Formats: sequence, C-alpha cells, structure tokens
Amino acid sequence: MTYHVQPDEFSGRVALVTGGGSGIGRAVARRWAAGGGQVTVLGRREDALLGTVELIEAAGGKADAVSCDVRDAAAVDAAVDEVAARHGRLDALVNNAAGNFVLPGEHLSPNGWKAVIDIVLNGTFHCTRAAARHMLPQGSGAILNVIASYAWHGHPGTVHSAAAKAGVLAMTRTLAVEWAPRGVRLNCIAPGPTETEGAAAALWPTPAARERVLGSVPAARFATPEEVAESAAFLIGDRAAYVTGDVLVVDGGQWLGKSVYTSEESGA
Ligand code: HXC
Repeated sequence: MTYHVQPDEFSGRVALVTGGGSGIGRAVARRWAAGGGQVTVLGRREDALLGTVELIEAAGGKADAVSCDVRDAAAVDAAVDEVAARHGRLDALVNNAAGNFVLPGEHLSPNGWKAVIDIVLNGTFHCTRAAARHMLPQGSGAILNVIASYAWHGHPGTVHSAAAKAGVLAMTRTLAVEWAPRGVRLNCIAPGPTETEGAAAALWPTPAARERVLGSVPAARFATPEEVAESAAFLIGDRAAYVTGDVLVVDGGQWLGKSVYTSEESGA
C-alpha cells in the first residue's frame, strides 16, 4: 500500500473516524496517521477497532479506539468529549459508519428501514453535532461524510440507504453554509464499488453479482480502500481549505457511465 503523504500533513492534529475498524474507515484512519496525525477510531466492535490501532502503531503512527454505537446520541456525545479531552482538540471527523443491504422496497420492513436510517442519517447527525461542539469554539474543523452517488440518482434495492445518504448530503450542504463563517468545513465523498469485506457481503455477495457490478464501472475495476482514503485526505486537509458543501465522486466513472446507447465506434 502506498500513500501520497505531504510532509507534516496532519502533524499536531486529531481526527475521529467512525466505522474505523474495517474497510474504507480503516484506510482513512491509516492515511491520517501516515500523515503524522493522531487518530481515534470509533465503532461497535472493539476487536476490529483494536486491529486498526495495531496496524497504525506498527507503522509508527498514533491511534486509539473508542467503542460506541452511532445510533446512541448520548453515547456519541460522551465518546467525542472523551476524544477531545484526551487529545486536547478535534480537527477532523469522518462519518463513515454505515449499514446496508440490498432489498426491493416492497420487502423492506419498517424496522429494516429504521436500522439503516438510524445508523446512516441519525448517526451522522449525532457525530457531527458532537464534533461541532468542539470545532465551532475552536474556530476550525473539517467534517467528511461518506455517501454514495445513489443519493442523487437512486438505485433499485437501496431505498433505505439512498434516502439516508440523500439526507446526509442535504445535511452537509446546510451545515456547510451555517458553519463556514466559523471555520468549519463539511464535504462528502461518494465512493463507487470499493473492494472491502463489508461492501462485498452487502452489495455483491455472489460471483455473478460481483461480475455485474464490475461490468457497470467504466474503469473496469473496483476501487481500493486506499484510493478512496487519498481523496478523503484531500478533503479533510489544507489543500481543500476553500472547499465546503461539495461532493467528490470516486467511482471510476460508474454513475456517469449509465447510458445504454452503443456503437462500434464508441466502444461502449
Ligand atoms: C432484509 C434485513 C437484512 C437483509 C437486516 N434486515 N438485514 N432485511 N435483508 N439482508 C432487517 C432485519 O430483519 C430487521 O428487521 C432490521 O433489518 C434490523 O436488523 P438487525 O439485524 O436487528 O439490526 P442491526 O443488528 O442493528 O443491523 C443493522 C444492519 C446490519 C444495517 C441490518 O447489516 C449492519 O449493522 N451492518 C453494518 C455493516 C454494513 O452493513 N456494511 C455495509 C456497508 S457498505 P425486522 O423487521 O426483521 O425486525 C455500504 C456501501 C454503499 O454502505 C455504497 C455502494 C456504492
């Protein structure tokens, strides 16, 4: 794995990454630590979180973990306060924790809908609110929300996740305007299919499904978590100091490549 680290990119800064025990969250945490920053990973499974901490420490980075379910607002407040107290500040929050499965809307139970909305939409608000209580008085901070392009184009089988991610996008744009005068930026990243265990189990559980997903990507491959982490690092770093309320799509052209027109010449 190669990261494109800027000298002293995140030195002296503190980040919190939700869902940091695996997949994209783990890669973002590792990328922040590789840039010299302190990172706390937050999630439900302590063993997974400690796995991330071990990897970062083995590479000479600084990391710790806090167990918490993002659906529990009071627990999130306590966890974020603990991180800020432990490290003296909070510079970046990456809302990466998610829950997802593919199911036609008519088969989705109210509880299935609620589970995904609670994790993705409510969980992102809980963490954002808790972080802002430190960032706004500090006068600086960057919040990055992980969404998906179906937040704006929709996708069959994902009504719960698409609705939640659309809500996160609206939240991002609203708070970006509210908090820009106070030095806090909010952006989204929309990864396409990324090679992680969670995404594979939830979104392409069979070899046939995997081939179908792969066939929908003009770049003809899945993203690596490290590639997504590079784009995340850009948005939460100083190179994006004037970027707020925006979405960076990192999907190998997947959502733009939906056209069904074909011709010999176009190669489509
Ligand atoms: C149908 C399902 C289901 C499934 C759960 N439910 N899984 N229904 N098909 N595969 C229903 C249950 O039956 C229940 O409803 C309700 O959802 C709550 O389920 P629980 O298991 O009790 O909830 P919980 O333990 O809180 O689990 C939440 C979860 C779970 C979302 C269902 O999968 C989870 O926590 N996953 C986290 C990891 C994850 O999903 N990662 C994938 C992220 S990938 P009833 O009515 O029976 O009580 C991703 C990429 C998107 O997001 C972008 C791609 C481009």
